[in-house]
Amino acid sequence: MITVLLLLLMMKSGTVSAVSSVTFENQDLCALKGSSVTLRCLYNYTVGKTVRKTAWFKGHLEKGLWKRVELSGLPSYRNRTEYLGDRQHNCSLAIHDLREDDTGHYYFRFDTDTLGIRSRGSVFLTVSEVRARVHPATARAGKKVTLECVTSCTPASTLWFKDGHPITKSLLQAQAEDAGKYSCTVKGHESVQSHPVDLNVLYSPVNVSVKVSHAGLLAVGRSVNLTCSSAANPKADSYTWYSSRSLLQVASGRVLSLNSLEVSHSGLYLCQVRNRLGENNSTAVLLTVGETKITRFILLLGIGIKVVMVLFLTLIITWAWRDWFNSAEDNEMDSHDYENCRM
Ligand SMILES: *[C@@H]1O[C@H](CO)[C@@H](O)[C@H](O)[C@H]1NC(C)=O
Ligand SMILES: *[C@@H]1O[C@H](CO)[C@@H](O)[C@H](O)[C@H]1NC(C)=O
Ligand SMILES: *[C@@H]1O[C@H](CO)[C@@H](O)[C@H](O)[C@H]1NC(C)=O
Ligand SMILES: *[C@@H]1O[C@H](CO)[C@@H](O)[C@H](O)[C@H]1NC(C)=O
Ligand SMILES: *[C@@H]1O[C@H](CO)[C@@H](O)[C@H](O)[C@H]1NC(C)=O
Ligand SMILES: *[C@@H]1O[C@H](CO)[C@@H](O)[C@H](O)[C@H]1NC(C)=O
Repeated sequence: MITVLLLLLMMKSGTVSAVSSVTFENQDLCALKGSSVTLRCLYNYTVGKTVRKTAWFKGHLEKGLWKRVELSGLPSYRNRTEYLGDRQHNCSLAIHDLREDDTGHYYFRFDTDTLGIRSRGSVFLTVSEVRARVHPATARAGKKVTLECVTSCTPASTLWFKDGHPITKSLLQAQAEDAGKYSCTVKGHESVQSHPVDLNVLYSPVNVSVKVSHAGLLAVGRSVNLTCSSAANPKADSYTWYSSRSLLQVASGRVLSLNSLEVSHSGLYLCQVRNRLGENNSTAVLLTVGETKITRFILLLGIGIKVVMVLFLTLIITWAWRDWFNSAEDNEMDSHDYENCRM
């Protein structure tokens, strides 16, 4: 008799715990900072009861005591929580725009007419930031660089961006053009991106070139500037000019100014650029100093004008002389006529 009673009691308590329960689909969740997460949840109770209230709580240590604080009472969750459940069996909750301090234990509780039931277990939510890491952050050209996308959520496949454009490699043999800002994201959570991190690539001078301020044949006496440019990181800190005239270094500085050119300035010029990693040379440029066609033309034009002017002057003088001579003759004739009239 007693055993039958006990059995009945056991059966009763068994059914009670089975009937009033809260079940979480996943008790361990990880989500990215800034994204949204859904805590999927079902609850059950004795058939015929009416649910009066539902609420989500967060576990919270206060003065050494573990407390459950209702989310609706926490200002930091205002406007960020969305109850997707109902007063039947669904008790899912969405949290939006996740923050790192949302990490913690979450509990559900519902009240029927007669009793309040809270979940035994909890959902533990981890909110993780996505962080991009570049090792090393400063690399010499040719050295290996590893990109690492870190989150505390279970390893997921990650996507990389360089200066905002997707890239496929996460291991690089550093080259000058790899320098830039790198960021990463987790597949499926593309809206959440890590802060960008810089990769700085160091290299000795390349693309060394010389620009001459005047192209072509240079006239004797004029000035010309030769400007040396290059790409280097760190910036080039020394420039040396070489000339085939002397086979020696002729000057230093980015700009080589040659004034009052002489024919002897003709020859090949090149510049050598240095930074602390090394040096590189430009190709040689040829400078030709001489009498240009234009100067010859101007010279000839000058002579031509002089000749024309001399001829012109001679003509004028000749004309003037003849004019004067003729008018003298006329006067004589006039007086002669006059005399004739008197007669
Ligand atoms: C709720 O409990 C009833 C009775 O035990 C059961 O038939 C039903 O499947 C349960 N529903 C859920 C969602 O657990
Ligand atoms: C919540 O949203 C309301 C209306 O959209 C807004 O006035 C309020 O400032 C928001 N509260 C917080 C804490 O963001
Ligand atoms: C010099 O520059 C050229 C390209 O401008 C590059 O290919 C070469 O490797 C450089 N040489 C050195 C020693 O850096
Ligand atoms: C050197 O010149 C080439 C060709 O113009 C260019 O693609 C490259 O980016 C330049 N290198 C650097 C470091 O600027
Ligand atoms: C050369 O450069 C200097 C300044 O660096 C400038 O004063 C001069 O006018 C330039 N000469 C020519 C021919 O470009
Ligand atoms: C650059 O030119 C100088 C002078 O001609 C020479 O001594 C040096 O070896 C050259 N450097 C390179 C990298 O070609």
